[in-house]
Amino acid sequence: MKHILTIALLLTASITMVSCFDKGQPNYQYMPNMYQPVGYETYGEYEVFPNKQEAMLPAEGSIPRGWQPYDYPNTTEGLELAKVESKNPLPVTQENLDNGKYLYDIYCGVCHGEKGDGQGILAKNEKILGVPSYADPGRVITEGGTYHVQMFGLNSMGSYASQTNEKERWQITMHVMNLKNTLEGKPLLEVETPMKDVAEAIAVMIDETSEEGHGEEGEEGDDQENEEQH
Ligand code: HEC
Repeated sequence: MKHILTIALLLTASITMVSCFDKGQPNYQYMPNMYQPVGYETYGEYEVFPNKQEAMLPAEGSIPRGWQPYDYPNTTEGLELAKVESKNPLPVTQENLDNGKYLYDIYCGVCHGEKGDGQGILAKNEKILGVPSYADPGRVITEGGTYHVQMFGLNSMGSYASQTNEKERWQITMHVMNLKNTLEGKPLLEVETPMKDVAEAIAVMIDETSEEGHGEEGEEGDDQENEEQH
């Protein structure tokens, strides 16, 4: 009898507790700070913001990190000016050239061809017409102009400003200049030796001279003696 009473009591208690539980609401929180972030959550709804939206447009005039302004306008005059004035800011290193070729083969080769002669697969199949050779004397293709057309495109050529970043566009430009040099039978861009390599080369030279110095003092002699002993 006593047992039945206890069981009935427990049952009623648990049913009462469970019946009021709303799955849509969070359960009782003992230390709410552990559950609820103090800062605003991305895309959260808060009274303090316009339309209660945490996600807002950046303040007017803000620029993304690493973004550089490009001052030449998307006009024929802009292209002509960029051709004359704009210069590649990157040093000619093997790394820049290699990455330039890598990106060029991905983005430009289909039309301009691996050699830059305007004989890419799309040009050959006549999917795109009027793809020039970089050596086309009528165009006077320069590094500034090559960067400019990557920024804005030119007629049936699209812009590459969203696929590549500034550095990548200049690397591609560097490769284009070498393709042009090859087509025109001119020497390739001179590759600068990074300071790291220069320092290493000097270190080796110093090492060699100091070894020679020792050799004269008798190290060689020691070696010979050792050899004789063996
Ligand atoms: C869809 C085919 C296509 C692709 C891909 C393409 N181009 Fe072009 N490109 C053209 C055509 C067509 C022209 C000629 C446009 C004109 O003068 O009307 C051109 C012109 C050029 C010129 C000459 C601009 C001048 O001064 O007259 C350069 C330099 C150039 N492209 C570089 C590139 C580079 C670098 C890439 C890769 C990032 C690239 N192109 C990708 C089709 C393409």
